[in-house]
Amino acid sequence: MIRSYSNFPLRKLHTFGTEASTKYYFEFTESEDLEGFLATNKDWPNQQLLIIGSGSNLLFVNDFPGLIINPNIPGIKIVHEDRNNIWLEVGAGVVWDELVEYAVFNRWGGIENLSLIPGKVGAAAVQNIGAYGMEIQNQIETVTGFNLETLTENILESTDCQFAYRDSIFKNELKNSFIITSVVFKLDKFPEYILNYGDLKSETEKLGSINLRNIRKAVIGIRESKLPDPKIFGNAGSFFKNPVIEEVQATQLLNIYPNMPHYSAPENRMKLAAGWLIEQCGWKGFRRGDAGVHEKQALVLVNYGNATGKEIFELSEEIRLSVQDKFGVELEREVISLP
Ligand code: EPU
Repeated sequence: MIRSYSNFPLRKLHTFGTEASTKYYFEFTESEDLEGFLATNKDWPNQQLLIIGSGSNLLFVNDFPGLIINPNIPGIKIVHEDRNNIWLEVGAGVVWDELVEYAVFNRWGGIENLSLIPGKVGAAAVQNIGAYGMEIQNQIETVTGFNLETLTENILESTDCQFAYRDSIFKNELKNSFIITSVVFKLDKFPEYILNYGDLKSETEKLGSINLRNIRKAVIGIRESKLPDPKIFGNAGSFFKNPVIEEVQATQLLNIYPNMPHYSAPENRMKLAAGWLIEQCGWKGFRRGDAGVHEKQALVLVNYGNATGKEIFELSEEIRLSVQDKFGVELEREVISLP
């Protein structure tokens, strides 16, 4: 199936739910559709490009002046299986949480902690989604997609994807030039549960025995208690990344703020909790017009109804500056802001 439009409204295509439109929009469900589109629309290389899934990590500050491509490819297929593992090839357009539900139902482990993360499978790889001690890079075997520079299909091994914290080659070198069509995940038939983040273990135990189904239920419970449902209030999850700073600076801050959450990171660095830093600056629950900071998780900015992308962006800049002023720590956006 193909959907191709000009001057297309974006409000329903991104989870912040602000008003914006795109000059061109193209959505497809089979790789061949994309090749056909590129062959017949010769002007595409002159357009600014944006590849989207369900738009759960985007903020449109203005109308988008170019071409948005949405690879909405369905399908979950078992490609290989042995005693311990199963390999699934999953279309880029599959809703991420539907894949988690399917895996947990079949008792295949490796992605249960990533329950209820919004978005689709293609974006999960781009963003290297993570939560509760798990990151998707550990289960990804290969990523297949269409390279717009060479106009060929390429398969990347996980080790070639330059995965890092909320980062990958698809956000850097291959940004907007590689359209992911499917991802192969390797799941475990005898999984080792990862329960050492926050209160995940105790929340799971409250549900009875520790198994994939209860871990998924516990994660969903924790997320629902802290994070706003984008269907009710527009948002894009964590707006900023958790900052990673030098250990020396972290130690100085800990002398002043001994309760500051901190986690060790590679190369003598420390990861801080952006949500905590923002809360300390007094922003939690702040609201101006319809743009605000979530009352239960300060890392999430919210559109309470009719906020504009510009209002949310301006609020995020004020937050960034105040954290810089109070702590000398620079916050980097996790959300992609356009243009
Ligand atoms: N905290 C505060 N105030 C707040 C928010 C958090 O003091 O308003 C403190 C918490 O008490 C805790 C620490 O900060 O000590 C960490 O908070 P939390 O466990 O809620 O996780 P997070 O670091 O704020 C990250 C991810 C989330 C992911 C959770 C759980 C990033 C940018 N965010 O949030 O991912 O769900 O951990 O693993 O890494 C997302 O990327 O969109 C996202 C929601």
